[in-house]
Amino acid sequence: MTISRTDVVSYSAHGALGVIEVNHPPVNAIAHPVRQGVASALEQAIADPGIRALLLVTAGPIFMAGADINELARPVMAPSLQELQSAIESARVPVVAAIQGLALGGGLELAMACHYRIAAPDARLGLPEITLGLIPGAGGTQRLPRLVGAARALDLMLSGKPWSAQEAYDCGLVDEVAGTELRAAARAFCERLIAENKPARRTCALRPSGPLSETDAQQALQKHARSIKGLRAPALMVEAIRAASEPFERGIAIEAELSAKSLQLRESVALRHLFFAERAAGKLRDVNVEITPRAIRRAAVIGAGTMGSGIATAFADAGVQVTLTDNAEAGLRHGMSLVQGNFAAAVKRGRIDQSTADERLARIMPSSSLSDAADADVVVEAVYEDSDLKKSVLSQLDQLLPADRLIASNTSTLSLTELAAATAHPGRVVGLHFFSPAHVMKLLEIVRGASTNADALAAALQVSRLLKKTAVIAKDGFGFIGNRMMQDGYFREAEQLLLEGATPEAVDRALEEFGFAMGPQRVSDLGGTDVGTRVRQELFKRASRPDPYFVIADRLTALGRLGQKSGSGFYRYESGGRQAIPDPEVERVIRELAAERGIEQRKITAAEIVERCVLSLILVGARVLEEGVAARAADIDVVWTSGYGFPRYLGGPMFHADTLGLRQVAERIRYYQQRCGFYWTPSPLIERLAAAGQSFQQHDESGS
Ligand code: COA
Repeated sequence: MTISRTDVVSYSAHGALGVIEVNHPPVNAIAHPVRQGVASALEQAIADPGIRALLLVTAGPIFMAGADINELARPVMAPSLQELQSAIESARVPVVAAIQGLALGGGLELAMACHYRIAAPDARLGLPEITLGLIPGAGGTQRLPRLVGAARALDLMLSGKPWSAQEAYDCGLVDEVAGTELRAAARAFCERLIAENKPARRTCALRPSGPLSETDAQQALQKHARSIKGLRAPALMVEAIRAASEPFERGIAIEAELSAKSLQLRESVALRHLFFAERAAGKLRDVNVEITPRAIRRAAVIGAGTMGSGIATAFADAGVQVTLTDNAEAGLRHGMSLVQGNFAAAVKRGRIDQSTADERLARIMPSSSLSDAADADVVVEAVYEDSDLKKSVLSQLDQLLPADRLIASNTSTLSLTELAAATAHPGRVVGLHFFSPAHVMKLLEIVRGASTNADALAAALQVSRLLKKTAVIAKDGFGFIGNRMMQDGYFREAEQLLLEGATPEAVDRALEEFGFAMGPQRVSDLGGTDVGTRVRQELFKRASRPDPYFVIADRLTALGRLGQKSGSGFYRYESGGRQAIPDPEVERVIRELAAERGIEQRKITAAEIVERCVLSLILVGARVLEEGVAARAADIDVVWTSGYGFPRYLGGPMFHADTLGLRQVAERIRYYQQRCGFYWTPSPLIERLAAAGQSFQQHDESGS
């Protein structure tokens, strides 16, 4: 019998069992109305002497995704999550949480304040606050160690990844994995508690299994060193977990203090910015039609090179049947061996088992005939980056496929508008710029040509969701968002610094210390200097750039120094090794190129290297924004953090510019314009925002 109901919480009684149900789509985030609703339902239940157990359930596929991240930057409205937890924990009857889908962050913390937990077999439970640069702040650091031990608790928090229901059961975080349908199993569990007269078992009253040892802390920090780089929250987590061996009230007070500190950290503000930016980037803003794109069951990928094979792998990973087409027999064989290699690597890394790999491989059908693409719901052209070849393939596909199917070109340099114009239906042609390896890299630039229509964009977004990519929509233009900023900004400045006297090693080291995953010269060597040269040759067909523009990289290509694959590039590599060894020969080539241009070499500090490379990224980013190639500064941040190794904890180049302050940014750009010349021409947008004391974030919010 339903007794009360708010917009998001209902309470019903079934004999001696009270059931509180939260229904706050899409993810049951514990926003203020949820806390208020649960607190008042709880009060009602407790006041009823007939109630002997309470069940907390939620509607929808996800139990609870945590505190409402939107509320984190605002003053807390009562009841706080902690107050609600105390009310639950001190209830006179046992309270049971029934967990389906995901219990994350505050969702798991709320469940831990319940007296018992039962989970569906496919449920996952975790504390992902670290991905937002935060520590769990609603008792997680105090209750989890009491349930599973301090070392395990730290590992879960540092990993940011959830445990499976079975793992959670094995270490005592949940009391039962449901053997039947979750709600039925949870009710049966509650009936047993009632029949056996079981008391409310308060997590806060449990003793932690022991204090966190220094060795355990160091081991866990070491294990997650890569993913926690640049974050200060891990140290706060260790401190909070140490407090779990104190009496609960004291531990909770320490956690509250540390949690408040983590909320103020620059990187946590940056990571929350990225959380929303990543979700907003893949939304169509200027198209206000509700479009339901066609379901994607079959895909076709044309061209079985590295990109094509990676894209086919990504589709197969997503459960889609794929035809991988190449007109060269040898190319097709090589492509299929690349695909096999991708799955074998996933098995080797323990990501999937052999039978899953076999299943996925069986989804990919090699074909030497383009006509096998005819029944695909979506087709991605990934042939060699040559304009005429691509145009010919696209026009054949256009004739082959019904007019409602999406045709995508995986180009990184060519004009999508021009490519689409080679077809009779340019509206359905879109660019899907995958990053290599395509089945691994998260970023997908969706390029809209001048004629691309809303249906095609909606279908492209559907593809990105299916492949679990982070999508950013870019307008057609030289290098789109990412490569334009890389070529005209970041890499170009790195080359300029080399000409002025910095060594490749010094440039790379400075930028890696700044936080980039890999410095620009090492990136060039990894990808192949010839690849960059080819990209520029293609780009130059659309727009040229005055000298010096990648004169070093292009000279290295001409010398056959193609990077790691040829054993030398900006560095040299010993027989097939990956270690970049500085090479005096490269320094000689650079000196020669500098002398030819009358550039005087000097000693350059790491600070100057970082400032110039990062500012030039910001400057070209502002141009990309002014030209409308990117719709929002936040989109640029997503591109650079998910596709180009910009440190996430700085929130992306444009967010970083806001952190520096646009007045300061504008001033330094003007300074470098005087020293370095025309390509540092200030951006009117930065100048305008700086003069108004505004940020890129405010620019995004104002939508102008
Ligand atoms: N607070 C507020 N909003 C949240 C949220 C949260 N904790 N978690 C998700 N959302 C919102 C998203 O912003 C998105 O909103 P939108 O549709 O307006 O863009 C919507 O819920 C769906 O989320 P999305 O990430 O697009 O769905 P998904 O199915 O791919 O992933 C989750 C679901 C729960 C795995 C993912 O959203 C997530 O990781 N959330 C954050 C979990 C977390 O860090 N919790 C600790 C908070 S301190």
